[in-house]
Amino acid sequence: MEHKFLTEENILAEIKGSWAGKRVKVFSETDSTNTQCRKLAAEGWPEGTLVVSEYQRAGKGRRGRAWVSPAGTGIWMSLLLRPELPPQKVSMVTLIAAMAVEKGIRLETGLDSQIKWPNDLVIGQKKICGILTEMQTQKEAAEHVVVGMGINANIREFPEEVRDSATSLYQVKGEETDRERLIGGVMAAFEEYWRIFLETGDLRALKEEYNEKLINRDRQVQILEPEGGYTGLCRGIGPEGELLVVLPDGQVKAVFSGEVSVRGVYGYV
Ligand code: BTN
Repeated sequence: MEHKFLTEENILAEIKGSWAGKRVKVFSETDSTNTQCRKLAAEGWPEGTLVVSEYQRAGKGRRGRAWVSPAGTGIWMSLLLRPELPPQKVSMVTLIAAMAVEKGIRLETGLDSQIKWPNDLVIGQKKICGILTEMQTQKEAAEHVVVGMGINANIREFPEEVRDSATSLYQVKGEETDRERLIGGVMAAFEEYWRIFLETGDLRALKEEYNEKLINRDRQVQILEPEGGYTGLCRGIGPEGELLVVLPDGQVKAVFSGEVSVRGVYGYV
């Protein structure tokens, strides 16, 4: 397929909902779409603003890591939200975004991916999408939230350092995915899940669907915390997005995201 550059016009043509992605800013190159989206937030751009870039010079991953963002083949995008949420509830946004990307990928490509709590999507044990949610707080509320999604869409080959842990829709499917349509699909799914989330302000109505996609479910997981770690059986998420882990003594521990990292007992998942 001929290489097609992302444009605001082509993305807008695929936005079917009423707010998410209704304002779009596309860069051919930038430092990080999260950084640019936060700037637009400070300038007063509305909820639903979407920043997309063909290439990120300084793509950000979780915990200060870099996110490999080659030019022209990925979907590197950040969505601006202005929810009235206390900061401790903002981690739920990441889970909602994961559900939206999963659904977008499934409807657009027919591929099933799974969620690795809290912020990765995987296909065949390898990472296909990473999510980084950042917020600006003012007093006790989140002033704005930026949810950054990195989808490995049409990447043919990854650099050595992530080759074992990353995959792309192209590598799995053997053909290119229309990035604009996938962006549109993710935005539509995000709107739907967001509406359900706002009805209760938590994930109680979404957790069953989330848990069906959760790769960690009913598996032994290692919870790595800065001060140490432990192993238990993962039972899925609770209503606030916390991971419920049964410890060897039968006690159920609720793990909130943040500093923790979850691994399978034998590796990444
Ligand atoms: C992770 O898995 O560590 C999170 C990766 C998040 C990457 C996306 S790409 C678009 C947005 N802009 C960034 O700089 N990061 C996020």
